Amino acid sequence: MDEPIQELPEDMMIPADPPPWWHSRKKATQFANGMSRGGDHRGTMILASSLCTDTTAEATVILDYFIDVVAYLESIEPPQYPYPVDTELAAAGEEVFLCHCAGCHGSYSADGESDSYPNMLIPLELIGTDPVFAAYGAGEFNYLEEWFESSFFGTVTELGVTEPFVGYVAPPLDSVWASAPYFHNASVPTLDLVLDSGARPTYWKRVDFDSTHYDWDALGWPYEVLDHGQDEAGPLEQRNLIYDTTKPGHSNGGHPFGDALTSEERKAVLEYLKTI
Ligand code: HEC
Repeated sequence: MDEPIQELPEDMMIPADPPPWWHSRKKATQFANGMSRGGDHRGTMILASSLCTDTTAEATVILDYFIDVVAYLESIEPPQYPYPVDTELAAAGEEVFLCHCAGCHGSYSADGESDSYPNMLIPLELIGTDPVFAAYGAGEFNYLEEWFESSFFGTVTELGVTEPFVGYVAPPLDSVWASAPYFHNASVPTLDLVLDSGARPTYWKRVDFDSTHYDWDALGWPYEVLDHGQDEAGPLEQRNLIYDTTKPGHSNGGHPFGDALTSEERKAVLEYLKTI
């Protein structure tokens, strides 16, 4: 279009942490805020690869390729934790998990055959993680979704614009040890901090971008706690490296479900999370 149909809002740099592909086969929705919970995700998947298509006939041909793409995605296996696991501690962690976590995140079996996953959407008031992304999908900025639903793509995938959900999906946790950082906005660098909301750093940055440098105990990226945010960091290259949880969309609060656990119980849950 020659003229913009909508002015972009200022200050809307919302961080997003794409979920691992190996969760595709369990989830009814591919988006953290529950958008497109209708099940057939090919409409959102082909959008990027067919935007320059002029006819629905051509778009239909492209759509057919995505039957194979979806089949491939659903065949992706979660990676195994590559180091020894303390099985006794993990068994204790499973008990805690079944009591405090499984109601939202499901239960997991050794071969994956008898897993249960409830596909739960948790309202913002209960989950308490950053509200911006959920509010964006349900609020005044969902003009793109409205356009989507009236387009060819919307005949394939229902985004649920008429029934927006204000909150987040409790994701499957298969191989969650491998998918740091955590939460829909990537605000928490390690799994042990997911379980301890009071210990999460306000300002942090990864110590390096070496993809093999992982913290195998805390389960996540090695990080450095900073005493300042982006505004005091000087040049853009420096600012960009800092995760500043005081910025809109970046807060790291909420999900307090691990806080009431003792440190022993938390350690046990972490050990268990290596096994699922
Ligand atoms: C009331 C439901 C609920 C309970 C209980 C709950 N969670 Fe969650 N959990 C969620 C939701 C919703 C999210 C997504 C939050 C977000 O992204 O903003 C989440 C996110 C997570 C994540 C981050 C996943 C990722 O890939 O970013 C982990 C890890 C996690 N939960 C582990 C646990 C553990 C362990 C427990 C038990 C101590 C637990 N949760 C209890 C609802 C719950």
